[in-house]
Amino acid sequence: TIRAVVRGVGHYLPERVVENSDFEASLDTTDEWIRARSGIERRHFAAEGETTSDMATKAAQAALDMAGIGANDLDTIILATSTADLTFPSAATMVQHKLGMTGGFAFDVQAVCAGFIFALANANALIASGQARRVMVIGSETFSRIMDWSDRSTCVLFGDGAGALVLEAQTGAGTTDDRGILATDLHSDGRHRDILYVDGGISTQSTGYLRMEGKEVFRHAIEKLAATADSALEKAGLGHDDVDWIVPHQANIRIIQGTAKKMGVPMERVVVTVQDHGNTSAASIPLALSVGCARGQIKPGDLIVTEAIGGGLAWGAVVLRW
Ligand code: ACO
Repeated sequence: TIRAVVRGVGHYLPERVVENSDFEASLDTTDEWIRARSGIERRHFAAEGETTSDMATKAAQAALDMAGIGANDLDTIILATSTADLTFPSAATMVQHKLGMTGGFAFDVQAVCAGFIFALANANALIASGQARRVMVIGSETFSRIMDWSDRSTCVLFGDGAGALVLEAQTGAGTTDDRGILATDLHSDGRHRDILYVDGGISTQSTGYLRMEGKEVFRHAIEKLAATADSALEKAGLGHDDVDWIVPHQANIRIIQGTAKKMGVPMERVVVTVQDHGNTSAASIPLALSVGCARGQIKPGDLIVTEAIGGGLAWGAVVLRW
């Protein structure tokens, strides 16, 4: 069998940090409300002119450095984003060029906050089928550009940033003790469009702002996240006790806690970065993986379940041995 094994991880956060209390001057909100309802304390916002492909390139370079390879050693770049620089070309091809990669192929994946999970599943399929040997998987977002700054129920929840993983084909690995992606589980249900969307787009000729029915999203999140994580574990032939780390999409600490509780995994085995990053959509999981490694939480050989849900609704999970 061929397995997709992690060779490198990296992230980039824009310099500008905005604390909860910084919103108090312009919005009817407080640091206490934001912390209590979301677990968020601060977030990073991209500088003027700084784009999704700029941040993605920096995260990707960090992952290449850790892997000890160059951009031209890659076959493929898959970039998960809902906030690409331009309508086209894909942000992935811009990253390809900025990294100096002249061969292979690059494309974007759009599954909103579940984008990184969908991108990982795509990368895994390309590697397992022998179409690519080394794949860079990136999540990068500039959600600050689609915030309605007068809507206190959304604009305090999101942040900007990027994270990246290098996956490499390894032959011969076959057991669940071997490293690499062990199972993937993807879902979407377009009936839920109206609870989380951007009210503009290319074919409606506007950029639009993020709109969210927070309570409705919350209701779907815990149930669907625990179910998809369980389903991915079952496909891998593993159970809750085998999990070293849940690395969840970082939207809200209450969703993270609720999902872990439903899975019977204590919070000591959950990587949490939402307090420092806010919700960075498709970037949140690779950011959490990279920060989790830098903190010394995630170690080679650890069994990780990563899960996310977002607009669509689209949701899914990946089980991998780090
Ligand atoms: N500051 C102060 N008060 C606020 C704020 C704010 N920033 N935002 C909303 N409120 C008010 C509301 O107006 C409401 O006031 P009212 O009772 O007078 O009408 C009150 O606080 C309670 O609002 P609720 O919406 O009931 O608060 P809730 O406890 O549901 O928390 C939240 C809101 C944080 C959005 C929550 O619903 C949530 O986290 N939902 C999940 C959303 C999420 O995580 N989405 C992302 C997942 S998918 C993705 O990543 C894109």
